[in-house]
Amino acid sequence: MKKKQRQHDPCLITFEGIDGCGKTTQAMLAFRFLSGKGMKVKLLREPGSTRISEQIRDILLNRKNSMSDITELLLYEAARSEIVSREIAPLLASGYIILCDRFYDSTTAYQGYGRKLDIKMVRALHKVATGNIAPDLTLLFDLDLKTAFSRRTQQLDRLESQSKAFFNRVRRGFLEIARKERRRVKVVDAARPVKVIFADVSRILTKKLKIDESISRSN
Ligand SMILES: Nc1ncnc2c1ncn2[C@@H]1O[C@H](COP(=O)(O)OP(=O)(O)OP(=O)(O)O)[C@@H](O)[C@H]1O
Ligand SMILES: [Mg+2]
Repeated sequence: MKKKQRQHDPCLITFEGIDGCGKTTQAMLAFRFLSGKGMKVKLLREPGSTRISEQIRDILLNRKNSMSDITELLLYEAARSEIVSREIAPLLASGYIILCDRFYDSTTAYQGYGRKLDIKMVRALHKVATGNIAPDLTLLFDLDLKTAFSRRTQQLDRLESQSKAFFNRVRRGFLEIARKERRRVKVVDAARPVKVIFADVSRILTKKLKIDESISRSN
């Protein structure tokens, strides 16, 4: 029997952090947690989740490609414009909770802090790409580089092949974003076991989405 869907406000929740910090693992757990509670929820990834954005993702991550920092920035924003106009905006309009595996904070951190592009220019492009849609909540999974690198299994993509100094700037960039936007960005210690991290994630989601624990336990 199809589960009755619970009424709730639309919401964009983003999962951020350096490569290997556990974004995808936690986003998938969050998807299961919220859909298990009968919520209208969709899991997307950036760059990607539309035909064109996935093609741009391939260009960006292919190690055989080399490109200028500005080309890289504009490709991320182009992919973002597609996912926002074709997926995120319509889904929000139809009342979905969207979980997005990376969003514009990744571009601020990687292309702004990592590549040292002008942060104001980078942020201005986010506005162009998103038409002012901003995450309602961002979970930043903070992890030291040594642990993040030790979790790598597959061959590294173009961005993952950057130097330790680059990733240090990216990590510091994410933390700086969180410091400036404390209300939106919640920092989660990602050096702990998956289940322990998810206990924090589910607590933050429960609070943000005002999930009634007594009702949800009866599901
Ligand atoms: N808390 C954890 N402790 C140990 N290993 C973990 C933890 N979370 C995830 N992993 C493992 O680390 C690897 C990277 O996790 P995951 O793919 O979720 O990270 P990610 O942030 O999505 O990485 P990427 O940025 O490369 O997409 C996976 O093999 C995953 O199973
Ligand atoms: Mg991932």
